[in-house]
Amino acid sequence: MAAEPILSVRGLRTHFATRDGVVRAVDGVSFDVTAGRTLGIVGESGCGKSVMTRSILRIVDPPGRIVEGSITLRFRDGRAPVELTALRDDGPEIRAIRGKEIALIFQEPMASFSQYYTVGDQIIEAIRLHSDLDAKQARARAIAMLRQVGIPSAERRVDEYPFQLSGGLRQRVMIAMALACGPRILIADEPTTALDVTTQAQVLDLLRELRDREGLSIIIITHDMGVIAEMADDVVVMYLGRAVETGPVDAIFHDPKHPYTQALLRSIPSVDATPRSRLATMPGAIPHPLNRPPGCPFHPRCDRAKPGLCDRDMPEAVSLGEGREVACVLYGGAA
Ligand SMILES: Nc1ncnc2c1ncn2[C@@H]1O[C@H](COP(=O)(O)OP(=O)(O)O)[C@@H](O)[C@H]1O
Ligand SMILES: [Mg+2]
Repeated sequence: MAAEPILSVRGLRTHFATRDGVVRAVDGVSFDVTAGRTLGIVGESGCGKSVMTRSILRIVDPPGRIVEGSITLRFRDGRAPVELTALRDDGPEIRAIRGKEIALIFQEPMASFSQYYTVGDQIIEAIRLHSDLDAKQARARAIAMLRQVGIPSAERRVDEYPFQLSGGLRQRVMIAMALACGPRILIADEPTTALDVTTQAQVLDLLRELRDREGLSIIIITHDMGVIAEMADDVVVMYLGRAVETGPVDAIFHDPKHPYTQALLRSIPSVDATPRSRLATMPGAIPHPLNRPPGCPFHPRCDRAKPGLCDRDMPEAVSLGEGREVACVLYGGAA
């Protein structure tokens, strides 16, 4: 039997009430995160992946608000589960969870560092926030963390400033800082999108190694099915704020069900393609967030859409067994 998930998201909806209308950035997403496994969340830009991760950490920018759903964090030590959506904005409970239980790294490491302090001072501050180590112990731990993420000459690098590091080293330092307080869940939001191919592969290797060695659970967010293939155990495919297909990575790659998943897979450049030649890009574009199509959000771009059906009702997710779910009328997903 599968272990109880450490994080469960159910029916999450996060909306932005703007002057021009309501942006339904996340509009019905459910998934589980299991200890020591990697969940990949994939979808084109603007599908709500970042708003979803920010909802988990309760750092959605106003006027964004979680309007429905639950996010449940469970513990191994017998502590009662915590319902993250019920916590007070930026109160002590959620602040004790950020970094210590769930940590976040994202695309642009420069944005998460201060330019005026050394990387060591910033990691030390993160460590001391959640522990009672003294300055000297925290510094030793910071150096150990830098070593753990593969930074050469960590005892020297610890005293450098972020701008002195290459993009790849900066991403490693951000991972070190994220892991400084021993979180059980690491959310990596497009962690390699800004990196060159070689550095990207190294950072993904490091994340996999940390998962295996530390038993970390990883949520990796990407628009790139190639990253999903390399990293994920389980996959959630998102389109316009909805989870359209969920399942184990092998099943999704070998037998994708939702036409959107099928189109995403066709858009992966094959290994022998000339570099940069993006094959088979998907027809059409994501609609403007304030101009959502009625019915299935993907129907205007779908080559199998049924008029009078797909443009009318939003299909509910249907279980296909073996941990697979798909929200599409082709599989009986009537609204
Ligand atoms: N502060 C905001 N105000 C209004 N809309 C927002 C805000 N932040 C994000 N959105 C909208 O939410 C949707 C999802 O954005 P995002 O989660 O960043 O997508 P992704 O990470 O998948 O590229 C987009 O339509 C975006 O325009
Ligand atoms: Mg994003």
